[in-house]
Amino acid sequence: MSTSPSSGPALPSGAPVGDAGPAVAPVPRAGTTPPVCRSGRRATTYAHRGSSGMAPENTAAAFELAIAEGADYVETDVQLSADGELVIIHDVTLARTTDARLAFADRAPWNVQAFTLAELKKLDAGGWYEGEFTGQHILTFDELLDLLGGRVGLNLELKSPAVNPGLAQAVAARLRRRPDWIEPGARPQPLIVGSFDEQALRDFHTQLPEVPVSLITYDVPAGGMLTDLAGWIFSLNPDIRRLRPEDAGRVTEAGMALVPWTVDSPELWRWALDLGVGGMITNYPHALRDMLHGRDRVPGAAGVVIDDVRYRSPGDGARWTGEHVVLRNVSDQPVDVGGWYLRNQASDRIVVGDGYVIPAGGLLRVHTGPGDNDATTYHNGRTTAVWNSRNGDSAGLHRADGTIVDLYAYII
Ligand code: G3P
Ligand code: CA
Repeated sequence: MSTSPSSGPALPSGAPVGDAGPAVAPVPRAGTTPPVCRSGRRATTYAHRGSSGMAPENTAAAFELAIAEGADYVETDVQLSADGELVIIHDVTLARTTDARLAFADRAPWNVQAFTLAELKKLDAGGWYEGEFTGQHILTFDELLDLLGGRVGLNLELKSPAVNPGLAQAVAARLRRRPDWIEPGARPQPLIVGSFDEQALRDFHTQLPEVPVSLITYDVPAGGMLTDLAGWIFSLNPDIRRLRPEDAGRVTEAGMALVPWTVDSPELWRWALDLGVGGMITNYPHALRDMLHGRDRVPGAAGVVIDDVRYRSPGDGARWTGEHVVLRNVSDQPVDVGGWYLRNQASDRIVVGDGYVIPAGGLLRVHTGPGDNDATTYHNGRTTAVWNSRNGDSAGLHRADGTIVDLYAYII
């Protein structure tokens, strides 16, 4: 279950997926038709930082998985190294998604822009996510293009141009040397270049006007501004947590594709489809594809669902450790959830302790922080909160082998 955007209508809880509805303009893909959900509406699947709900973001593993899962596009982030190489990484520091703290202990705060490509290549970019991904490395932009190899579209975000001066020009220059990606007739798969930074996007568009561009936002811009954008912007990527139904209509009426980020639960996918999105950016492209193809996951098929995420609220003190996720056994059999884990949108992983069995109809509270364990409460002993308490988050519940059991999203 999940909550709907506060300013929007209630999610269509229990509504048949087969609601009649008009086909919406999909983001075009050369020679193919985006998949149709059971309602008859189409939507294009963008794998956010690759299939990042299942593999470490922005690595070859996440991109290969997204391709195998049938995503239409991979979405990813490009920045500049100290020696001007284009590299694929989301954060402006290396701290979260590499072993830089260990490998370069004296280089805090580990800004990407302070490291040469040779140094970046020494880092492990997979082990932080799960041990089995140790050995993944930061890719260059060229390596990314080679890896994708015409098998999937690319939605490339010019990440943080303020700390990556010249990024738009560098990407355009590199793409000119990869004509297979920019000449419309020759393109094996489409390319869309996006950014939160409108000026950087304009700079890129000036250099390569034949490449469609997307503006990433939190809110949908006001009327006049939206009309201006529609003159040169191909798609708008607003934050799903801030998207209001009346604004969704304004985007498509202005002539742009509406492709919100980051949409990570079946309820939100259906809600967004009802708003007329042309595509969705998600950490779980396989699950979105399943839904679009009518293979909806049956809630509780694995016996256990995410009932609630109790995130920290503004009134909670700094030392509050009450943050937890409520798991509910909706079956008539006990379910052993030892080793199962939860993952948030930032890829934090909260593992349930061995031996935890939720009785039929029972609950288990999985705490992030420290505390005393008992039959209905398990504590991970972390010292920092993981569930986003500013605007919303999603939680994926995985079995110990990584398979998905349930997806839950909340919006604040
Ligand atoms: O494409 C939009 C989305 O990627 C923006 O968010 O922070 O994941 O780059 P972020
Ligand atoms: Ca991005």
